[in-house]
Amino acid sequence: MNEFMKLLSLSKPVIQAPMAGGPATPPLAAAVSNYGGLGSLASGYLTPETLKRQIEETKQLTSAQFQVNLFVPEKREKVSRKKIEDWQNKIPLSQSAELETDEEQDWNDFYEKIDIVLNSGVKVCSFTFGVPPVDAVKELKKRDCCLIGTAVSVDEAVLLEEKGMDIIVVQGSEAGGHRGAFLHTKGEAAVGLIALIPQAADHVSVPVIAAGGIYDKRGVAASFALGAQGVQLGTAFLACMESGTSAVYKQKLIEAAETDTRLTRLFSGKPARGIVNQWMEDRRIDEDNALPYPLQNTLTKPMRKQAQLEGNPESMSLWCGQGVRAATKQTTVKELMDQLVPAGVIL
Ligand SMILES: Cc1cc2nc3c(=O)[nH]c(=O)nc-3n(C[C@H](O)[C@H](O)[C@H](O)COP(=O)(O)O)c2cc1C
Repeated sequence: MNEFMKLLSLSKPVIQAPMAGGPATPPLAAAVSNYGGLGSLASGYLTPETLKRQIEETKQLTSAQFQVNLFVPEKREKVSRKKIEDWQNKIPLSQSAELETDEEQDWNDFYEKIDIVLNSGVKVCSFTFGVPPVDAVKELKKRDCCLIGTAVSVDEAVLLEEKGMDIIVVQGSEAGGHRGAFLHTKGEAAVGLIALIPQAADHVSVPVIAAGGIYDKRGVAASFALGAQGVQLGTAFLACMESGTSAVYKQKLIEAAETDTRLTRLFSGKPARGIVNQWMEDRRIDEDNALPYPLQNTLTKPMRKQAQLEGNPESMSLWCGQGVRAATKQTTVKELMDQLVPAGVIL
């Protein structure tokens, strides 16, 4: 048993990625924790009340540990009225989007969720899109909460360790969903996992967890060989029966190949990897001109919601990693966990 598994009392070194937007349901998180991994709730886009309810529901389904993931709020960029209007003309249904939230509201929401974690007895809390503020880290540590940060580069990993994170998830460019990146880089920040794991493991002393494109025991073994102490999988769990992924999204995952995804800012303003669909193709020309996060996200929300209601995958965000060809059918958490870490395998 390695340090990471000991820290979280796991029998399998597997984290189910927190996946905001619906897939990371209490039944999914609980099933993963019940099979010896770390199940995750994703608080991004949830109201504090819904998060509280999900924590209670998960507790009913498992007595094992699970984590809550939070988005660290970012500085909002100023955007001209003209640019917003240009996008409103391009995005179907965007006129009905509510635009009024600001950075202060983001922070209020963040601290409300931190309070919920503090009062819920949840002992693992993870972050993406940045370094959590000192006061939040201090309060969580006072309650013996284990803290997990997300890094896409060695510099981010080092900073997260310095700021008190106990575990670092390194997210390779293969990963599905949003990039957790938060530091400016001179060149491309899309570092592949095979390059990222050993370099991060050489520069931090806390356990490094590998995320991005991992789908089976070979990905787990490779991650360990490169210096990781655990793996975090998103896409593979999306295809599980217990996830909240819609039927049409699951079908797209089952049909997709490794070359069907790309990083895009068109849905949210922040780079995220998803299956290419009609909306992405139609607006490809505007890719470099997307509004900053979360403005683009707010404007595309009514379109995405409507597409979800209609079961139309062509205007939904279909977040997905490059390991997706391995998703050939819907599985159960138990089947997935057993094939990731077969019984008797010592890592
Ligand atoms: C649908 C989806 C939603 C995601 N939402 C979050 C999130 O809310 N917080 C987070 O830290 N990571 C999120 N991620 C990224 C995952 O934590 C992880 O880095 C990624 O899924 C790993 O790559 P894989 O999908 O190829 O396994 C999301 C990923 C997906 C696929």
